[in-house]
Amino acid sequence: MKWTNQIASQLNWSGDISNKEVKQQVAFQVAEKVKDGDVIGIGSGSTSFLALQAIVERVKEEGLDVKGIPTSKEAEINCSVLGLPTTTLIDSRPDWGFDGADEVDDEQRLIKGRGGAMLREKLVMASADKTYILVDQSKIVTRLGEKFAVPVEVDSRAIHLVESTLETYTSVERIEMRMADKKDGPVITEGGHVILDVTFHDIAPGAETSLKGIPGVVETGIFAGYPIEVLKV
Ligand code: 5RP
Repeated sequence: MKWTNQIASQLNWSGDISNKEVKQQVAFQVAEKVKDGDVIGIGSGSTSFLALQAIVERVKEEGLDVKGIPTSKEAEINCSVLGLPTTTLIDSRPDWGFDGADEVDDEQRLIKGRGGAMLREKLVMASADKTYILVDQSKIVTRLGEKFAVPVEVDSRAIHLVESTLETYTSVERIEMRMADKKDGPVITEGGHVILDVTFHDIAPGAETSLKGIPGVVETGIFAGYPIEVLKV
């Protein structure tokens, strides 16, 4: 077993990353962008994991001085296992970053957060001049929300307030509390919050801002208007 596969299996991605060959191509594309001295925002999810592997291989082969700013605990562990030094948004600013997405529409709006890391992902993305969004064709949609619900991270004390407010939105089709795999309780985010997965009939241009306006909403998985470049295969 190659060392990278061993690490992937330790990280629970034992070779069953969906669309792996395609994701690998986009991972190599982003690894080409690394320069000596870069501070890079490190995304979360399987595509970002493959990109991080490709970046670390270059860093090690060429002896580059590169640091990562992880967007989640998962990304933090991946950096540590693969051997990429990390820093934080408090100590540094990312020169650029990379991340995956669940959906991208033709206005370059994204839905992210299947891994529940959208709060930190958005902080890192908003701090970087550019974030490369690594996607395969299956993530491109004509209508945002076509395949995925929008994750809305909520302070648990506000769960009834947020749910009842969302129920008044005519654009909302369904609201589901995200449950842990064993269904023995809700998923709790790194920030200690719960997630409502909200299915929309239609995601209006101002949806990210209006959702954030509901007291108790900490973050949403709608990413609109950030400086991104979509790298797709
Ligand atoms: C995690 C994310 C991921 O970037 C998104 O879910 C894509 O994941 P993958 O690359 O595994 O398809 O937003 O919060």
